[in-house]
Amino acid sequence: MSSQVIASTKNRARVLTEAEISEIEHEKTLYPDNQAVGLEALKIVQNHQGWVSDESLLAIAEYLDLSVADLEGVATFFNLIYRQPVGRNVILYCDSVSCWICRGDDIKNYLSERLSIDYGQTTEDNEFTLIPVPCLGDCNNAPVMMVGQDLHRNLTKAGIDEIIDQYRNKNA
Ligand code: FES
Repeated sequence: MSSQVIASTKNRARVLTEAEISEIEHEKTLYPDNQAVGLEALKIVQNHQGWVSDESLLAIAEYLDLSVADLEGVATFFNLIYRQPVGRNVILYCDSVSCWICRGDDIKNYLSERLSIDYGQTTEDNEFTLIPVPCLGDCNNAPVMMVGQDLHRNLTKAGIDEIIDQYRNKNA
């Protein structure tokens, strides 16, 4: 976060919810200092809010007495901390070598076509956000992607159609 953004968001920290505070307090018992709790607190807020807004980031920094710039650095380093709003379903698409060898690129292009989005984008209906990730640890079943907490293996174009329908219907 630039100093300009920090200045413009000053005093705009939102109030953390009781549930968020309770979970952050639990993490504090597991780590030696607040610096180490920062990433867990970002994950907790993201779980509750869907993403980490500037206001949320400021609230965590204030609560843990951390530097906003340091916490922003942590959030930026871990690309699974979303600093912009995301769709109801986040698709984490493996773009590492085993999946690539197994025509992962073709499948990804098909997925992008079906959803009319590329990496880093969200569908117009706010249903899906597509994000590239390194190896998901299931190379034997490449190509692989996650939708939310669900792992989908051995992806095919027909499989992509089914998966998209499955999540669209789930949220219908
Ligand atoms: S390279 Fe895709 S799961 Fe390992």
